[in-house]
Amino acid sequence: MQFQTFDTYEALSKAAAVAIAEEVRANPRAVLGLATGSTPLGLYRELIRLHREEGLSFAQVKTFNLDEYYGLAPDHSQSYHHFMWENLFSHIDISKENINIPSGTPDDVDAYCRAYDARINEVGGIDLQILGIGTNGHIGFNEPGEELTPRCHRVQLAEATIEANARFFDNAADVPRTAITMGMESILQAKKIMLLANGEAKAPVIGKLQTSGITTKIPATLLRLHRHVHVYVDAAAASQLAR
Ligand code: PGA
Repeated sequence: MQFQTFDTYEALSKAAAVAIAEEVRANPRAVLGLATGSTPLGLYRELIRLHREEGLSFAQVKTFNLDEYYGLAPDHSQSYHHFMWENLFSHIDISKENINIPSGTPDDVDAYCRAYDARINEVGGIDLQILGIGTNGHIGFNEPGEELTPRCHRVQLAEATIEANARFFDNAADVPRTAITMGMESILQAKKIMLLANGEAKAPVIGKLQTSGITTKIPATLLRLHRHVHVYVDAAAASQLAR
């Protein structure tokens, strides 16, 4: 696991966008794993700029999002479907049929999840997976626990996650209690992984990511099992990293 520190969130976002642009230019049919949340917003803004000003094309790129709140329809203002269209997809030349985001309202969760995992395999797996990290160490919505579920599944959100995400809803009671998430195995099967973290609130978990052993209590520590993980942090999130 390689840590790279950037002075500012803007610099981190630009560097992440450059890495994605390199991937897509080298392989226009790249399969990208995408994340939601505040963290990748700067990255998505920069990708939109690269598309508009430097001709970066996503016409043949395929994407798979990590997760979606259970019970939220795609047109709900807080759904991750809505987030992705609003913050990225509407502004680039990606084909609708190449976009995959877990449904928050599947009829049969198990069958739906098996099909989601199968689609990832059918396209040859994810080339580059973008991740944020929860203050509790979750990635996607794989929450800390005694065990982690390898494949796509419906998960109970941790209290810390509900509290952290309440800022996007009118009140904490409106935050869905469960979600559909890609599992740890699918994340770890990505060829390359880029984890982004910014802000003081992430400093403790980034510090632990560097020093902790591998534990399901901090799901992000499982990334140590992967050969190609780049962790991009801004100065605030890096403040508890050993030099
Ligand atoms: P954030 O969320 O980007 O909004 O901090 C990250 C996460 O919970 O994975």
